[in-house]
Amino acid sequence: MIEILEEAKTGIIEDLKGAEDENALLQIKSKYVGKKGLITELLKSMRDLTPEEKREMGQAINVVKTDIESRIEDKLTEIKESIKAKSLSQEEIDVTLPGRGLPPGGKHPINRVMDEIVYNFERLGFNVAEGPEVELDYYNFEALNIPKDHPARDMQDTFYISDDIVLRTHTSPVQVRVMQKQSPPVKIIAPGKVYRCDSDVSHTPMFHQIEGLLVDKYVTFGNLKSVLTQFIQLTFGKNTNVRFRPSFFPFTEPSAEVDIECTICKGNGCRVCKQTGWLEIMGCGMVDPEVFKSVNYDPDIYTGFAFGMGVERITMLKYGINDIRLFFENDIRFLKQFV
Ligand code: DAH
Repeated sequence: MIEILEEAKTGIIEDLKGAEDENALLQIKSKYVGKKGLITELLKSMRDLTPEEKREMGQAINVVKTDIESRIEDKLTEIKESIKAKSLSQEEIDVTLPGRGLPPGGKHPINRVMDEIVYNFERLGFNVAEGPEVELDYYNFEALNIPKDHPARDMQDTFYISDDIVLRTHTSPVQVRVMQKQSPPVKIIAPGKVYRCDSDVSHTPMFHQIEGLLVDKYVTFGNLKSVLTQFIQLTFGKNTNVRFRPSFFPFTEPSAEVDIECTICKGNGCRVCKQTGWLEIMGCGMVDPEVFKSVNYDPDIYTGFAFGMGVERITMLKYGINDIRLFFENDIRFLKQFV
């Protein structure tokens, strides 16, 4: 047994010298300390020894076993290191190559135009106000002088959540919420998402509006024309012609629609303006006394004007886009043009 042990002690050194990869190492491992390996067999054959001999022999075998195991372990590390060194010396990294880089993102055209409109009104002294998209019927309709069975409700295809709760169909309810909390003077704009059950080349179920409201003593229709004309010239250019055309909204009296000279044909008449030379861009009017009553403003003391516009429509006119759905398809080739 001693002899075999001695043989193992020297044999392992020789065997390891010849081992060049992990496979060879595994074979050596099984030759010595595997299930049928030399050392394992030696340990098994101690069965016939006396207890005294067993103790001595056992100790001797264990010393050799630990030695073999640690040599195999060292060799494994050595092999791994040399594989790594070899691959490092073969793979060349050109550190002077430029990085891959991230393609730059950009603001969505709708947000871009919305920010621009908000900024232009801020320059005119307006503050931004916000309200909920899930709105009470009361704010969306009732307080704006549109009672339950009023025909004006047909103007807007409403998504009802329950009898009393809707997805707001316009940003006008923010007017009412602001006036309920604040006494005049009021000078706000309310940008945000609105919802209508409608979908074609010029309608999407969700779109964006900007509402405006100015209330104080002695506010006139002349003030309304002046503010909106200034805003339009800031947004569409200084020489843009503006026209106010009589219209109807339940929450304003008198009401008007605002047209700008067609941005495509400069007023000569084309397909976009349906040969009229004008494009409608917003609704407006003097706040109806009925609306003031619902927020306890005295209509004998205060007057005001309100206006509302669709951001998608303005963006389409500004950039000559003919299908509103392009804004929501997220086609990078379309969006990239606005970066
Ligand atoms: N809320 C109207 C709409 O969605 C737009 C509007 C028109 C708002 C006239 C106003 C206004 O404040 O005075 O069609």
